[in-house]
Amino acid sequence: MVLSDSMRRVLEELGSHIRANAEAWGADALARLFQLCPQTKMYFKKFNGFKASDSCVKMHGYVVMTAVADAIRNLDNLSNHLEPLAEKHGEVICVEPPNFFVFSKCITVTLAIHLPAFTPETHNAVDIFLQLLSHNLSSKYR
Ligand code: HEM
Repeated sequence: MVLSDSMRRVLEELGSHIRANAEAWGADALARLFQLCPQTKMYFKKFNGFKASDSCVKMHGYVVMTAVADAIRNLDNLSNHLEPLAEKHGEVICVEPPNFFVFSKCITVTLAIHLPAFTPETHNAVDIFLQLLSHNLSSKYR
């Protein structure tokens, strides 16, 4: 999976939208994950709610979407940049790899309904980027 120059340009622009809306879009994507795949709630034992309006979901949504925007800033160095997060998810939290791909679908839907234009080109760039992100984040799973 390789990102072309035009895909990188799409992603760079997308990164600033994501950063500006990190809390709301992150909460929306997480709420979709919990609805589509309720088993994922077991990873979030400290949460006292799983809806987009719940404060724990908003706070974690902000953290996750900011990390997504940070990854977009580090496309040239993605695996090194993501190594600490991959260790946390793979070795500490032990997130089973398929969950990253389900969450990627949720993020894609969130972006599609919130961005002013979700063109086929944007969709393609997002799809490849999220595959790379998921691949890297699940690389330390044991
Ligand atoms: C796009 C994919 C994802 C990104 C960018 C991401 C990002 C992050 C970040 C930045 C943190 C905070 C790390 C820290 O405090 O050191 C985190 C924590 C966490 N992540 Fe992820 N994550 C992703 C997917 C997932 C998935 C699929 C799951 C499980 C289904 C998951 C479960 C968790 C849990 C349980 C925590 C700790 C929450 C807490 O105790 O506060 N993550 N994630």
